[in-house]
Amino acid sequence: MSTTSNASLIARHNAALTPNYGKLPAAIVSGSGSRLTDADGKTYIDLFAGFGGTILGHCHPALVHALSAQANTLWTVGNQFYSEPQIRLAEHLKAKAFDGRAFFCHSGAEANEAAIKLARLAAGGGDNEGHGKYKIISFLKGFHGRTLGALSATPTPAYQKGFTPLTPGFLAVPYNDLAALKAAIDEHTAGILMEPIQGEGGVHLPDPAFPAQVRKLCDENNITLIFDEVWTGCGRTGHYFGHQLYRHPDGSPVLPDILTLGKALGGGIPTACMFAIPRLAALLQPGTHGCTLGGNPICAAVAAAVFDVLEKENLCDQAAEKGRKIRAALTGFKNAAKIKDVRGAGLMLGIQLHAPDAAPVVAAALALGLVINATSKNVLRLAPALNIPDEDLDQALPLLDQALAAV
Ligand SMILES: Cc1ncc(COP(=O)(O)O)c(C=O)c1O
Repeated sequence: MSTTSNASLIARHNAALTPNYGKLPAAIVSGSGSRLTDADGKTYIDLFAGFGGTILGHCHPALVHALSAQANTLWTVGNQFYSEPQIRLAEHLKAKAFDGRAFFCHSGAEANEAAIKLARLAAGGGDNEGHGKYKIISFLKGFHGRTLGALSATPTPAYQKGFTPLTPGFLAVPYNDLAALKAAIDEHTAGILMEPIQGEGGVHLPDPAFPAQVRKLCDENNITLIFDEVWTGCGRTGHYFGHQLYRHPDGSPVLPDILTLGKALGGGIPTACMFAIPRLAALLQPGTHGCTLGGNPICAAVAAAVFDVLEKENLCDQAAEKGRKIRAALTGFKNAAKIKDVRGAGLMLGIQLHAPDAAPVVAAALALGLVINATSKNVLRLAPALNIPDEDLDQALPLLDQALAAV
């Protein structure tokens, strides 16, 4: 496929692109299912699926078909027209999440921007003197994106450093700390933004009762609850959406007012969504918000096909089952003693190491032909495609065990 090597592509990249991403020393030129091939012809088993984006693996026939059929039918005409693929995608979300209304855009950060704006719009917003209802509370170690609003809700200093002043009206409290959350709420609070499982922050689950308690607080104080499911959405956790892991004491589901989705929504094609209950969605009247290419027929057709496949191939259940298989395998690893903790749900797994830095394991895995990731210094992350073949997983897990010897 490529006449160039990793080395030459890396050199050309470095001369032509910004250096803002930490890089692994390989240029990937093709993929099929959960297998990748680099420019030197080396193959890898992909246990990270492009930060969760390629949730059905690479080049799934149903997605290729949806993409090419739509590409041969209609590209973008703009959101002044009605468009069947985006209706189909929104209907999937209504059927699988709750009765909401969709606004489509391209990235998780943009979806969160829309959610933050809508929470402020619903609350009346504030003025430049700090009057009104405009504050957004998020959680320490949370991650919501790199745009200025989303970054203001992402309280990790390393991400914010150099970009001040941030957007006013944001504050953060420890995840899982109900007392701190109660204390942070005041008459200015418009919204609470939380991940059902913190992803970038190290794969942290809340106490199972916490999401319901947050929901109750929001109801009592007329606050919009936003669940950022950019990582946890679209089957990743063994449920269509991560919030479906949690229940109220009476067994009823814990629902947000606004759900945000990205990453896996388009199966690897840039697509994101803010999905809001009708009362809030109705506030987004013409002129309030927009995104030129959001919900364009090509992205929407592929994303709708993602949900067709999730449903048809029963992939939520498969994610849960494969997640259990990986956890069971980890306990039997020769290098199991290197592992301090395993957290997550379904195929969103964080493996915390005793060693302070997981980067050597990621590098060793790559050398062995395995793609994994590390976050929060010493947490390895696995997020393979939900349909990763058993043979690939069976081959990948001993490689992971071997790579752990690097720390
Ligand atoms: C929970 C969460 N929200 C939002 C984002 C931002 O998404 P994007 O990079 O598509 O803007 C991320 C990215 O990792 C994320 O994990």
